[in-house]
Amino acid sequence: MERRRWLQAAVLMCLLLLCSGRELKNKRQAPAYNSTLAKTLAEYTSAVYTNDLSQLFTWTCEKCGDLTEGFEVIDLIIDVKNCLEAYVGFASDMSAVVVAFRGTQENSIQNWIEDLFWKQLDFDYPGMTEAKVHSGFYSAYHNTTLRDGVINGIQKTREAYGNIPIMVTGHSMGGAMASFCALDLIVNYGLEDVTLLTFGQPRIGNAVFASHFKKYLPNAIRVTNAHDIVPHLPPYYQYFPQKTYHHFPREVWVHNIGLDSLVYPIEQICDDSGEDPTCSRSFPLSCFNILSLVNSLPADVLSP
Ligand SMILES: *[C@@H]1O[C@H](CO)[C@@H](O)[C@H](O)[C@H]1NC(C)=O
Ligand SMILES: *[C@@H]1O[C@H](CO)[C@@H](O)[C@H](O)[C@H]1NC(C)=O
Repeated sequence: MERRRWLQAAVLMCLLLLCSGRELKNKRQAPAYNSTLAKTLAEYTSAVYTNDLSQLFTWTCEKCGDLTEGFEVIDLIIDVKNCLEAYVGFASDMSAVVVAFRGTQENSIQNWIEDLFWKQLDFDYPGMTEAKVHSGFYSAYHNTTLRDGVINGIQKTREAYGNIPIMVTGHSMGGAMASFCALDLIVNYGLEDVTLLTFGQPRIGNAVFASHFKKYLPNAIRVTNAHDIVPHLPPYYQYFPQKTYHHFPREVWVHNIGLDSLVYPIEQICDDSGEDPTCSRSFPLSCFNILSLVNSLPADVLSP
């Protein structure tokens, strides 16, 4: 009898534990991935590659329509010396400021990718103990005219349209700059309501940096594409946790599943480690042929 009661109690305890476990899981915030928003921001990111700046400024470029119809460019920021570019403007349909960064020039992309294989973590992120980043990506945003230009553009837009949300985006190296920008807006300018969504961006810092990043931008999204090598760089070395680059979460991996005529693309929401082994990392770096690299354009990122 004693024993039976004890067993009942034990079973009850287990059930309670299981239930509370489940409750905890349910209470964990669902990843804030919005596929429509991703498609919209992919169009904004594609538009920044327009070479005709007057078309971009007047939002009459080829990519300036569809989901981004009616966008008003407030500032176009160009750093001629470093060949960098970004724009800031007002998206009336989302009632938000959109900031988009342009990545590397197409003609230098191969050298750029080869360099990334060997890139060290060589800069201490200011104010964050043990957080190390890639100095090149850090300076592309912080030590060029882009930073002041973007801050100024955001202020102008918010003066005209109120304290509306800010959406920061970019593709490839533009995604790296977008990440430093979003963090800067929060950490150094105390701005709120900052959304970061990038496409095919490289790694930018170490694991300590990634965990700081996650604290400030818990809903950041990095969209990756099955055939893009850039998100694999600089490489992640699983067995050297102290030395390696480490992505911040959360990755959304766009890839095809199925065979032949039954292929369809899925957007897989990855875990909150930043380095989910079942997402783009499941496609080994050694499978890419560095000599035949074709960098996917941002518009293709969502359609593998
Ligand atoms: C997703 O984003 C779109 C475009 O910004 C927005 O209209 C829609 O309300 C969002 N959906 C959710 C569930 O937040
Ligand atoms: C950026 O410029 C500042 C001031 O000139 C300098 O101290 C810093 O080291 C530079 N950062 C990088 C990553 O080069």
